[in-house]
Amino acid sequence: MPILFDPQARTFHLRNGQVSYLIRVLANGALGHVYFGGTLAESGPRGHLASREFLGFDNRLGEPVPLEYPTAGIGDYRVPALVVRAPDGSTANDLRYVSHRTFPGKPAIPGLPSTYVQAHEEAETLEILLADTPADLEVRLYYTIFVDRSVVARSARIRSLRQVPQTLLCAMSASLDLPDSDWNLVHFSGAWARERHVVKRRLGPGSMSFGSLRGASGHQHDPSLLLQREATTEQHGEAYGLSLVYSGNFLAEAEVGAFGTTRLRLGINPEGFAWNLEPGAEFCAPEAILVYSDDGMEALSDAYHTLYRDRLARGVWRDLPRPIVINNWEATYFDFDEPRLLAIASSARELGMELFVLDDGWFGQRDGDNTSLGDWTVNLAKLPGGIGGLARKIEELGLRFGIWIEPEMISQRSRLFTEHADWVVGVPARPRTEGRNQLVLDMSRGEVVDYLFGVLSDLLSHAPISYVKWDMNRNITEPYGGALPAERQGEFFHRYILGVYDLYDRLGRAFPNVLFESCAGGGGRFDPGMLAYAPQAWTSDDTDAIERLRIQWGTSQVYPLSSMAAHVSAVPNHQVGRITPLQTRAAVAFFGVLGYELDPTTLSAEERALVAGQIEFYKAHRELFQRGRFVRLRGPFEGDGNETAWMTVSRDRKQGVVGHYRILNGPNPGPSRLRLRGLDPAATYRVSVWPAGDDAIAKANAGLRGGDELMKMGLTIRSEDPNDSRSLGDFHARLFDLDADESAHPSSRE
Ligand code: DGJ
Repeated sequence: MPILFDPQARTFHLRNGQVSYLIRVLANGALGHVYFGGTLAESGPRGHLASREFLGFDNRLGEPVPLEYPTAGIGDYRVPALVVRAPDGSTANDLRYVSHRTFPGKPAIPGLPSTYVQAHEEAETLEILLADTPADLEVRLYYTIFVDRSVVARSARIRSLRQVPQTLLCAMSASLDLPDSDWNLVHFSGAWARERHVVKRRLGPGSMSFGSLRGASGHQHDPSLLLQREATTEQHGEAYGLSLVYSGNFLAEAEVGAFGTTRLRLGINPEGFAWNLEPGAEFCAPEAILVYSDDGMEALSDAYHTLYRDRLARGVWRDLPRPIVINNWEATYFDFDEPRLLAIASSARELGMELFVLDDGWFGQRDGDNTSLGDWTVNLAKLPGGIGGLARKIEELGLRFGIWIEPEMISQRSRLFTEHADWVVGVPARPRTEGRNQLVLDMSRGEVVDYLFGVLSDLLSHAPISYVKWDMNRNITEPYGGALPAERQGEFFHRYILGVYDLYDRLGRAFPNVLFESCAGGGGRFDPGMLAYAPQAWTSDDTDAIERLRIQWGTSQVYPLSSMAAHVSAVPNHQVGRITPLQTRAAVAFFGVLGYELDPTTLSAEERALVAGQIEFYKAHRELFQRGRFVRLRGPFEGDGNETAWMTVSRDRKQGVVGHYRILNGPNPGPSRLRLRGLDPAATYRVSVWPAGDDAIAKANAGLRGGDELMKMGLTIRSEDPNDSRSLGDFHARLFDLDADESAHPSSRE
């Protein structure tokens, strides 16, 4: 059993082969945190651990046992997990253990996305009931340990038993105390078109935090917080991860206390949050996924990848090979009609693409970004046969059809605005700020969600639509829910996201065969919450191959390949004006869910041959590119960042593809090699290079190579001859295709 309870010591031990999590009911009934880290033996003397009770104010004198779910006002001056304002205005709370139960499997969280199990045997859950009796408050903490993952999933539910409402001001999903502060905080930050760049900061006394107050997780910060030791590498050393399954305002914080201990907390951002706890009603905090690795960042990432890919994403598309899309956005922007789209689709089909995505501009009077959001009826001037007519013609060409929508938004110039200005987010008597010339619909209102469900169901049921790209292009300003009373305005942001989840959930259930891709001006809401409804996301609006090295590297720290949509686009690139080789653009976009975002009718015969070859190569390796084990070899945030290398390996280690990228070429560089990982040392691999060639690198690597050699000596990525580098130029990419050759190396079958 993964959850052990020692009734004498009143200690819970959640354990599997990879991690242990220890909680103890302290002598005074408070719930103390004892340990989270590598596995401890099932039995052993544990009674001495955390045998002191929580000393509250005494923590100025010594190190108290930290609390599992710390509250404010009782002597622990570090950041709390829970703050509740009582009707008398006081905010001190003191939680004591009441009872617990364990059960196989994992419960869902009402209204919120969460990880799940398919069979009860996959996990066991501990539910601990705590109470603050004078405050008439109950807190239920949930801990799920999966049998074969280095993961503990946590969440909390808060209930008031008072007859008058109390106000929940802070309800973190997880708080975790660690006994030292010798850590680097790692997080993923940026802005539009440069999302999820890796940032590393040394912890020191006081707090370091990041989060969002935008109404979405945002381009600026990913809702995950990692810790690693200074010496931790991809392969070795300790690392912790806390990742929030949520898409709204969040806070991630690391606080180093007076005695050099570290408290982490992650959850809904308390800033601007105030939830009325009605008598008896329960508030559910989102889920936080905690991972511990003693084997470096690669193992930590792999734990997130497999969990998020296999037990967070859901629906038929979770396991299905994802289609190669042709998206018309960068090809046409708003300027298209049916013949132009059909020409693009037909040309794309000839090259082997599989699904045509009609992006923004097909509805209302939308010839630019200043009108028609909300009017989800087709523009017959552009598409005289309607969406159904176009979709059927696309299907006749042999492609499936997908469509872009932005349901949460409204343009002032729209029919919907004239009919329902009251549905728009805004503070009464205050001007509304526009972003991209648009306003936001109030998703906290049930009738708005109902309306959108009706309109979108209509769209999806009257045309053969296989895919939906759900965009969201601005953040919330003047937050105010028109249907909420004054005392509930602090609920607005969370209710907004609950409305988004509700709409996603209802559409997903009504159209189970539709593949949803989430998008928010690129990666502005690329988070675990969205992955529960849309198994893939538009990683960034930046399609430049060189920028994508950093974006995809950062994204890969937590998110699986199957979640990252990556497109080959035209040059000069529309975001940075850079001109990169077509093969380099593909070699980067291959690692994820491949698509094209250009006008294939404008390609030369030579380029068409290259694209056809790319698609053929991708299809032959699709399983590896979308679902392989991702291994980061050389990082764009390391050293001068000039080289990046990564690889994907099949779970049985028989196949792999390595990508090596060099931004700027240099003269007379000297020979160099790239050591691989994750292969079978006893196997022999047939190595071929892509694009094929008879250059020095192809010659140096093509042929049979032992897995041991590839991992200990490596591939040759620079030859000894200085003349060889002349032909490479800048923005160079090379893939190495590895295929275990079982006939070549008898030892591989031993
Ligand atoms: C932002 C998205 O990220 C783009 O891919 C595109 O769909 C535009 N919006 C359309 O307005």
